[in-house]
Amino acid sequence: MTGLVSFIGAGPGAADLITLRGAQRIAEADIVIWAASLVHEDVLQHARPDALVVNSAEHSLEGITEHYERAAREGLRVARIHSGDPALWGGTQEQHALCTRLGLDTEVIPGVSSFSAVAALVQRELTIPEVAQSVVLTRLEGGKTPMPPRETVRAYAEIGATMCLFLSAARTKQLQTELLAGAYDEDTPCVVAYAATWPDELVFECRLGDLAAKVKEHKLYKHTLVLVGPALAADGTRSHLYHPGHFHEHRKVESLEARRALKASR
Ligand SMILES: C[S@@+](CC[C@H](N)C(=O)[O-])C[C@H]1O[C@@H](n2cnc3c(N)ncnc32)[C@H](O)[C@@H]1O
Repeated sequence: MTGLVSFIGAGPGAADLITLRGAQRIAEADIVIWAASLVHEDVLQHARPDALVVNSAEHSLEGITEHYERAAREGLRVARIHSGDPALWGGTQEQHALCTRLGLDTEVIPGVSSFSAVAALVQRELTIPEVAQSVVLTRLEGGKTPMPPRETVRAYAEIGATMCLFLSAARTKQLQTELLAGAYDEDTPCVVAYAATWPDELVFECRLGDLAAKVKEHKLYKHTLVLVGPALAADGTRSHLYHPGHFHEHRKVESLEARRALKASR
């Protein structure tokens, strides 16, 4: 039998935010590899009592490799658990390539990313009609991992859309300066979330002009996400999709007046 490695998004923290499929794969796994520093230990409640549980935070990629090699030799199932969604800053691609080289089957099971979780906590839509129709997921340049030269916070801030800043809380002064150098002003609304959906979660809203001071006041430097953009405080205009004058294959226009009103608003 060929071994199978399932890369699983565990969600932002709360144990009930993992998908049913993710939990199922953990329950089926012979080996569970998880990052104790990023994933809440409650996800391990899905693991079989006889599963081998490995904390990836204590190992380099080489240290994890022996478990993938064993899975390839013995045809075992591995659940590799990542925080949030594995497609974002998960370091999954190099592991995926390694597993493919070893002849293992692989699959990726998506998870709730922290940016979705934080938007849900403050009950805000990140795309508001005519205010913001794009969401930029990025991080501040100048950290440990080099950034492609054109992917600067300042350049994205010039667009004025909604931005989600990962991995940037340790340098919030620089973050604030770069965001203000783009299209945002000091009154632009921000949401700061530390350990969203964990028991010690802290979430607050502030003006961009106060961002660095507030983050410093709460001593946040890791496990923190910053959302910024006018959509975070706007109600926006009425969406066309649910207007009584809009029609599509599942719904008719409710009246001629409504149709005219919708056309006039365009
Ligand atoms: C290595 S990245 C992993 C991102 C993850 N794959 C996701 O989809 O959310 C870690 C960064 O994600 C953000 N993050 C992840 N989980 C978070 C949470 N529960 N609360 C706040 N920020 C979180 C923070 O910016 C943190 O520094």
